[in-house]
Amino acid sequence: MTAAPSPRCDRIAELTTDQLRARLPEALQVYVTAMGYPPSTAQQRAPMWSAHMLRAGWRCIGAFSEQDELIGIGYGYLGAPGQWWHEQVRRGLMTSEVAIGDWMDDYFELTELHVHPAAQGGGLGESILRRLLTGAPGSKVLLSTPEGPTRAWKLYRRVGFTDVLRNYRFTGDPRPFAVLGRPLPLEPR
Ligand SMILES: CC(C)(COP(=O)(O)OP(=O)(O)OC[C@H]1O[C@@H](n2cnc3c(N)ncnc32)[C@H](O)[C@@H]1OP(=O)(O)O)[C@@H](O)C(=O)NCCC(=O)NCCS
Repeated sequence: MTAAPSPRCDRIAELTTDQLRARLPEALQVYVTAMGYPPSTAQQRAPMWSAHMLRAGWRCIGAFSEQDELIGIGYGYLGAPGQWWHEQVRRGLMTSEVAIGDWMDDYFELTELHVHPAAQGGGLGESILRRLLTGAPGSKVLLSTPEGPTRAWKLYRRVGFTDVLRNYRFTGDPRPFAVLGRPLPLEPR
């Protein structure tokens, strides 16, 4: 049995593709635990996370405990036509009042942001998010998150994200999602 990660963050650092590959099982463990998904989801997601690392503008930030355990992870890349998420959001915008050209060009897709539950509620998610977006490519950032009053929602609103699409259904997921966005760069805290 592995010890539960310490909630105390020792350092936040940018990860290269090689560094994330080396710690991919650990990162996916943070992801499934934070999201409350079954452990088998980690294995299913590994090929997708590996493919994302090869996309233009990919950037990843990790948070580490004093014991060098990964306790938080965030990554994203430049969105582009042909990518599944891009096409899904584009489809949603076609039936909305929002102009596709306002958002779907030159944007950084914030793909994943997760903090181990033992380390949540102390500002770590915001620190990872700010570090990830500071220096991210693109003139704006877009993300999707399940609808509902969650800590993620509070965080995104606090950092200035506004509605792009609400109650949107992605193919294959019955949950309603919001797509949120904001211009880049971020204002300093
Ligand atoms: C969303 C998520 C990444 C946010 O990370 P987090 O570290 O828990 O949250 P934040 O960085 O926003 O910190 C927020 C809390 O820390 C508190 N906080 C902020 N700075 C602090 C500091 N310096 N000292 C102590 N507490 C602090 C805030 O008051 C806030 O508390 P509250 O939410 O109880 O009101 C995390 O909760 C998570 O992984 N959730 C599950 C997965 C998920 O939903 N991911 C997003 C998918 S789109």
